[in-house]
Amino acid sequence: MRVPFVGLRIPIPNPIPSRARARVRRTGVHVLMVAASVPVVRPVAERGFRALFDSLADDWERIRADPTYREGFREALAHLPRGFRPRRALDVACGTGIATEVLLARWPQLAANGFDISPRMVELASELVPGASFEVASVHHLPWADGEFDLVCALDGLLDLPELLRVLHRKGRLLVVYSRGGTTPISRPLAALATELNDLDAIAEVYTDGEAHVLVARHRR
Ligand SMILES: C[S@@+](CC[C@H](N)C(=O)[O-])C[C@H]1O[C@@H](n2cnc3c(N)ncnc32)[C@H](O)[C@@H]1O
Repeated sequence: MRVPFVGLRIPIPNPIPSRARARVRRTGVHVLMVAASVPVVRPVAERGFRALFDSLADDWERIRADPTYREGFREALAHLPRGFRPRRALDVACGTGIATEVLLARWPQLAANGFDISPRMVELASELVPGASFEVASVHHLPWADGEFDLVCALDGLLDLPELLRVLHRKGRLLVVYSRGGTTPISRPLAALATELNDLDAIAEVYTDGEAHVLVARHRR
């Protein structure tokens, strides 16, 4: 790049090294998460998330190719109560549908829905996981009735706990999985989530012994 007026030439590596790109992306996600937590600027954050993840969508399966993402989520299912057998599940911020794919492999009869704010992610999920139904929606305004799902899961997904508890059946379970523990870019500390859930009249248990960190919650009554 040549600096105007000065005439200096600055070498800009092309393409930008992937580590630098990942750092910029992590910072961007963090800023958007903070903005999404403030209702007046939330629409701006939602537009930012949509644009960011639409731009990543065609590359997402490659970014998630490491089998530990699917494996971590599969192992997290072991923290659900013994004999728990959901009939209807929701994949929160589903991306290309990785969590849904794992759920359907485990429970082939499951009625599975997923949603994401990125239309391109939803398009890809619909192609890659044909046994489920995916739609574009924001976690802050879910298009489902109260108590519709007996399993609501979020794999590295953005959360809105009151809204997720609203669509969770009285006897259902909310499963939050951060595949890279506290270093997962979109993660929030599980202890803080557990406190918030407690204030929302839910009970949460957290499991942080593996690489993936897991929270399982249910309505208190
Ligand atoms: C880190 S990705 C995880 C995707 C997928 N769960 C997976 O594990 O591959 C986070 C996802 O959250 C979605 N997202 C961001 N803000 C959202 C919102 N307000 N409502 C729904 N999805 C959102 C993004 O579009 C993106 O697909």
